[in-house]
Amino acid sequence: MIQQQTQETFLTGITTTGTPHLGNYVGAIRPAIQSSQIGGHKAYYFLADLHALIKCQDPEMVRRSSREIAATWLALGLNTDNVVFYRQSDIPEIPQLAWFLTCVAAKGLMNRAHAYKDSVQKNLDDGQDPDYGITMGLFSYPVLMAADILMFNGSKVPVGRDQIQHIEMARDIGQRFNYLYGEHFVLPEAVVDDNMAVLQGLDGRKMSKSYGNTIPLFLDEKQLKKHINKIVTNLLEPGEPKDPDTSTVFQIWKAFATAEQTAEMRREFENGIAWGEAKKRLFELVNTEVSDARERYNQLLAEPDHIEAILKKGAEKAREYSVPFLDRLKAAVGISPLTP
Ligand code: TRP
Repeated sequence: MIQQQTQETFLTGITTTGTPHLGNYVGAIRPAIQSSQIGGHKAYYFLADLHALIKCQDPEMVRRSSREIAATWLALGLNTDNVVFYRQSDIPEIPQLAWFLTCVAAKGLMNRAHAYKDSVQKNLDDGQDPDYGITMGLFSYPVLMAADILMFNGSKVPVGRDQIQHIEMARDIGQRFNYLYGEHFVLPEAVVDDNMAVLQGLDGRKMSKSYGNTIPLFLDEKQLKKHINKIVTNLLEPGEPKDPDTSTVFQIWKAFATAEQTAEMRREFENGIAWGEAKKRLFELVNTEVSDARERYNQLLAEPDHIEAILKKGAEKAREYSVPFLDRLKAAVGISPLTP
């Protein structure tokens, strides 16, 4: 008998490379914290430090980033009594499950992953061997991500639009496992905020650590202003009407503003607001939203023991689920003690 899941389980992770930026905040952290405040569901939020190793082989960077990202979630008001907040690498059941899933995931499915295909394309564009610099970690990235999600039977996964494909792959892989071994996994769905899932960066491309075009979330005021001033705009003069829908300044505005503020800024663009003025207002808007959290963030960074204790407690809670569930999955695939 398949047990009907009566409650949604929210689950999402952030890769611990680099410093959290406005894109992470808008695309993942803010919706995740908001949904955790609605209550009525279980929630698992974690630092994807095993994923970090795929993109970053600088140990100090991985360490620093884990600390910063943990401090970020806590500073923004994550209530760790309501959600399970942990570090991926503290849950050894996840990489074990990743192996089970590797053994049922179709290679052809992985061939279609955007991140992998982009790397191959970049190599071809550069006249390189298509496999140049591509590790098995990158190729299997979606399998590890499927393990993250399926390990806790996450049903709703708040992510940026660029991650939808990975959630669909997790569904495919979970379905394949269920087909072979019985109904063990709930199939996850992506939760994408339509307006603002992928924020643009300084150069107008997706805001991403890999493009080096981010605005870090907790810059001091001076640096925040400086970064916002670096957002690329066109050369239209003050007084000349500007197109909000192709403007990064407007797009970021929209992600932080109320509906009325957005409508008003749209009018300002049509009336030819100067870029300098639009950026000044954007700075004020963003700064107001983040300034309290920035203070808490700086306090937390000065107390790593406190953060570590919270993560350890989170891992304990997570393993109350993952340890018995992995035992069940092991039995399902035929790995169990020889004697009952
Ligand atoms: N791949 C995600 C990103 O880069 C991070 C991530 C890892 C994740 N595991 C996950 C997100 C599981 C949601 C669920 O944004």
